[in-house]
Amino acid sequence: MFGKLKEYCVEGAKVYFTYEGSREAGARPCVEVVSESIFNVFIDYAGTGHCTRAIEGELGERLNAGTGGDIAKLESVSQEEAGVIIRTKELTGVVSDGFHVDFYDREGNLLSAAYRGKRKSGAGVSEAALALLAEEGHEISGAADEHKIQELRCLDAGDCIYGLGDKTGFLNKRHYEYEMWNTDNPDPQEDNFKALYKSIPFMMVLREKGAYGIFFDNHNRTFFDLGKENNDYYMFGAEEGNLDYYFIGGKSLKDVVSGYTYLTGRAPMQQMWTLGYHQSRWGYDSEEEIRGIARKMREHGLPCDCIHFDIDYMDHFKVFTWNKERYTDGAKVIADFKEMGIKAVTIIDPGVKLEKDYYVYEEGVKEGYFAKTPEGEIYVNQVWPGDAVYPDFGNPQVRKWWGEKQKFLIDMGVSGVWNDMNEPASFRGPLPDDVVFTDEDKKSTHGQVHNIYGHNMAKATYEGWKKQTNKRPFVITRACYSGSQKYTTAWTGDNHSIWAHIRMAIPQLCNLGMSGMNFVGTDVGGFGSDSTPELFARWMQIGCFSPLFRNHCALGCRMQEPWQFGGEVLAISQKYISLRYELLPYLYDLMRETEQTGIPMMRPLVLEYDRDENVKNRNDEFMLGDRMLIAPVVEQGARERMVYLPEGIWYDYWTGEKVEGGSFLVRKAPLDLCPIYVKAGAVIPKYPVRMCVGEDKDDILILEAYPGEGTYVHYQDNGEDFGYREGAYNEYRLVNRDGKVDVEKIHEGYRDYGKIEIKTAGIKDAEMR
Ligand code: GLC
Repeated sequence: MFGKLKEYCVEGAKVYFTYEGSREAGARPCVEVVSESIFNVFIDYAGTGHCTRAIEGELGERLNAGTGGDIAKLESVSQEEAGVIIRTKELTGVVSDGFHVDFYDREGNLLSAAYRGKRKSGAGVSEAALALLAEEGHEISGAADEHKIQELRCLDAGDCIYGLGDKTGFLNKRHYEYEMWNTDNPDPQEDNFKALYKSIPFMMVLREKGAYGIFFDNHNRTFFDLGKENNDYYMFGAEEGNLDYYFIGGKSLKDVVSGYTYLTGRAPMQQMWTLGYHQSRWGYDSEEEIRGIARKMREHGLPCDCIHFDIDYMDHFKVFTWNKERYTDGAKVIADFKEMGIKAVTIIDPGVKLEKDYYVYEEGVKEGYFAKTPEGEIYVNQVWPGDAVYPDFGNPQVRKWWGEKQKFLIDMGVSGVWNDMNEPASFRGPLPDDVVFTDEDKKSTHGQVHNIYGHNMAKATYEGWKKQTNKRPFVITRACYSGSQKYTTAWTGDNHSIWAHIRMAIPQLCNLGMSGMNFVGTDVGGFGSDSTPELFARWMQIGCFSPLFRNHCALGCRMQEPWQFGGEVLAISQKYISLRYELLPYLYDLMRETEQTGIPMMRPLVLEYDRDENVKNRNDEFMLGDRMLIAPVVEQGARERMVYLPEGIWYDYWTGEKVEGGSFLVRKAPLDLCPIYVKAGAVIPKYPVRMCVGEDKDDILILEAYPGEGTYVHYQDNGEDFGYREGAYNEYRLVNRDGKVDVEKIHEGYRDYGKIEIKTAGIKDAEMR
């Protein structure tokens, strides 16, 4: 522990501190100014300096080289009674005895104080009681574990906590504990699960005044106790690595999300077709069956842009091969799908089958590209293909090789890759911590790189596709780390067709979005277990508004395509998939906004209205952008639901009725209706319904204008490549004056729409009287 503060010294944007009784010689605690509103707090316990894999590009390089901060932003450093005061225009850090750091906003409001007491668990369960419980198989965490690296920070009574990636449970994470250790656990996920597939050690605290974020950039196993053991503080810690966290100050949650994505990167524009409907199943048994799926999508008038090929397309689950027994000609199937406007996405797992003469295995062995045991043998575990070996994605050479391997899929005509099992999963027990991997330029261990394995696989895939296709690579991943949003979209893994999981879908996707992962979705209808017609219909109504809209389910479960549940559910599916296709230009605008600001497309109400008490724990509504509020039904049998509308005037999307916000209402919600409300003054850009994104519909843009006033920007480009980064796009300013919209082109770089139609929506006061 650090004692009394002895002295400090300023080196560039860093302030180093010396304490009486520093517990580790050489571990000089440091606070570094990264930007006007972001400070880094660092203790080099491991003696490695920063080793961030989440913050990349120029800032990442500077941080890793030890010259990361921004001297220009550091206004002053001075010693006063309270401690050493570090100031920028927006943020003040006060560093005192014990290396306690408190943060204040520009107005001098306390944003976050270090907790000065010792950890004290409220559980108070005796050893004898624990032993008794263990006999019956109960797992009780008991007394709190002290971590070698640990930070405690105060919580106030009203503080709410958000973020942390894909954790289960509710929007507000306060009072729960979590672990960051990418985990493939196929059991139905419950609120008390500590770890899932992704590790995003970023949390946000919403306070009575202001908000802030903590990004604990340590990719070893990390632990978060968010006021579970004690209501007065939260804790984050680790056994290895450094104390290396970023404090991100803000007035609002949006400021914090934008600060976090400034550090770790913003999810880039995807190709427009990826916003279409995706049909998937593990697995379609034969060429005939999968062709039938594409045909039936069209026969039933269901728009669809993509069919996913699960592991069965491979020859004995060997990556970068095609199963010639199931498919006479895989490339022909894909080409025929393309004719129908349907693209193919194929699954790729990291586990490479251990098989003599299998080219991927042989190449990897020859080049030394697989993880090894400490004794230097290639490490073997088991996944779908049986005995399998693990590419060492932390090695830049391996990433390059893996990127080049994508050529096999690209040549087949595949349009995107779905990276699975990349925690990495293993069927013969977990990989031991000491399996030898690489972490960029140095040897490392599984324990140290486990949490970035999926991240590095995604990076390899993204870079391979970018280089070879020049299009925006479409990658989906199950496992990832902070910053993976630069390379990949994600889905939430193996949920179940149960009502608890449709309820969980909303907060889970919203927290992922606020944790940088914008383009996310759940398996619509549920993966494991059998969906009911009602559950499926309601899940389509959430999928319709999720960035990734993919219906997927597991081997052995009932068929789950939209026509499998009878006429009523088919009609509901047609209605919501069609609505999705109408909303494409709106969704595309939102994706553009995410790339520019980091603010996700799908948002919890609290991200838009963070001063409204009624939305801090609102788990069953969300916003699509800033203009549309979606209130899906997530209760079995419910045919009406309570809806909360934040301040302002709203219009019921289905009836046009005007509703005053800041209040609760009860909305009828028969099975075919998902309540939707649109903000007064909104303009919603729409397309006519089409069967797939590329289908030419006379290039019409429809602007649906609601009564009231508002100004928006609409974005348009070719939906495919990176030309927009060189200016190949159009931007239009839309000014809505009570249903009359002025359209002004503010950036010209792409072809014009054939026609822009303006439609008034919502019922005006006069019409209602
Ligand atoms: C994993 C994936 C699932 C996939 C299955 C077979 O369980 O999470 O989506 O269908 O493996 O590849």
